[in-house]
Amino acid sequence: MPILLGASPATAASILTVLPAGSQVVDTTDRLFHWLSSHPEEYAVLVGPQVGVDDAMAIAERMRSLMPTTSVVLVRDTVDAAVLTQAMHSGVREVVAASDLNQVSGALQRAHGLAVALRGNNPSSSQKSGRVITIFSPKGGVGKTTMSVNLAIALMRGGRNSVCVVDLDLAFGDIAITLQLFPTHTIEHAIGGESVMDLSFVEELMTPHESGLKVLAAPSQPDARERVTGTLVATLLETLREHYDYVVLDTAPAFDEQTLTALDETDECIIVATLDVPTLKNVKVALETLDVLGVAEGHRHLLLNRADAAVGIGPDKVEGILAMNIAVQVATSLDIAKATNAGRPLMLSNPSHPSSQAVRKLAETLMGADQRSSAGQIAEQAPRREEPSKRFRLSRR
Ligand SMILES: Nc1ncnc2c1ncn2[C@@H]1O[C@H](COP(=O)(O)OP(=O)(O)OP(=O)(O)O)[C@@H](O)[C@H]1O
Ligand SMILES: [Mg+2]
Repeated sequence: MPILLGASPATAASILTVLPAGSQVVDTTDRLFHWLSSHPEEYAVLVGPQVGVDDAMAIAERMRSLMPTTSVVLVRDTVDAAVLTQAMHSGVREVVAASDLNQVSGALQRAHGLAVALRGNNPSSSQKSGRVITIFSPKGGVGKTTMSVNLAIALMRGGRNSVCVVDLDLAFGDIAITLQLFPTHTIEHAIGGESVMDLSFVEELMTPHESGLKVLAAPSQPDARERVTGTLVATLLETLREHYDYVVLDTAPAFDEQTLTALDETDECIIVATLDVPTLKNVKVALETLDVLGVAEGHRHLLLNRADAAVGIGPDKVEGILAMNIAVQVATSLDIAKATNAGRPLMLSNPSHPSSQAVRKLAETLMGADQRSSAGQIAEQAPRREEPSKRFRLSRR
């Protein structure tokens, strides 16, 4: 995240309003270079008005040889031609007026774009190609959140895989409370950050769970949902999948813009159903919609939750109605409800519980699914296209 040196408290406070979350302010050149020594990925250094022109030029010269892909942005109270000329000769990328926050923000976006362009081809970057796993159901209360957290923990395989959960139930998400987490930041703090999105930006917004799982929580207020755009969701997922083995998405029971974008980015889709007629009817309609949209074809897995005997509909009937094999069944269990209320997922508190075992089996299927088509679909469904086009995604920049 950008770092600002040499600004009065008032100027720093003003500039910080247009810097991404996690940006730093330092008061000496030594501290600046000390910080940079442990943040080689930094893309912008802002040198504020309290640093004299000669000292600012010396910093720019030093940065040019030390970190050539990091932009130095000179922030001045007034910008004149003499400073501009001197600045350009020293390797300063841009000179902006402290009072013009649009200019400051524009300079940072360009700095980020330049860093991405210059470093983009570097094969040493630790980019992964993580799998996005979306838990979806058109019905509320069927167990999406419960299954999301338990599945995410199973996917971690005791820390051998890096896994994060994104709560895309943007109005009423409850991943955080289900894990007894109290986030200081949520996805709401990523709003407007599309152009400066990178791992350090997203990591600042995530809340770590004791298990090692990282959680990007839903906004604390429902009205923030509308400001989380499809573009933002797509950018976030692109960034996360480059750094995590598995990105698990909990969703709202709706085909809203954010969910559609998430589905478009999805590698494996877990459809949650329960044994009641209204849910099955809606799941059937949702599956038809996914067919029309061409989402996760061949990569859908049916999770039958509360799969109990003697409710009048059996698993066979479900498979017939939905034209899809059941990948996993989880029975109704008081232990699951208790685990939710205790804020400790069953997968952690009782890994050998039959429900934990069932979800772990699904995790194993997913971990092996990279190489083969989902076993959960009936053969006549269309084969997956090699390069599915992105239908809902808007351009990142
Ligand atoms: N198999 C189960 N046995 C007993 N309780 C369960 C089971 N699955 C889920 N529950 C409980 O049902 C409640 C609703 O589950 P959950 O919040 O996971 O559903 P959801 O689909 O995410 O709901 P929403 O659409 O409102 O987000 C929770 O209290 C959870 O503990
Ligand atoms: Mg939920």
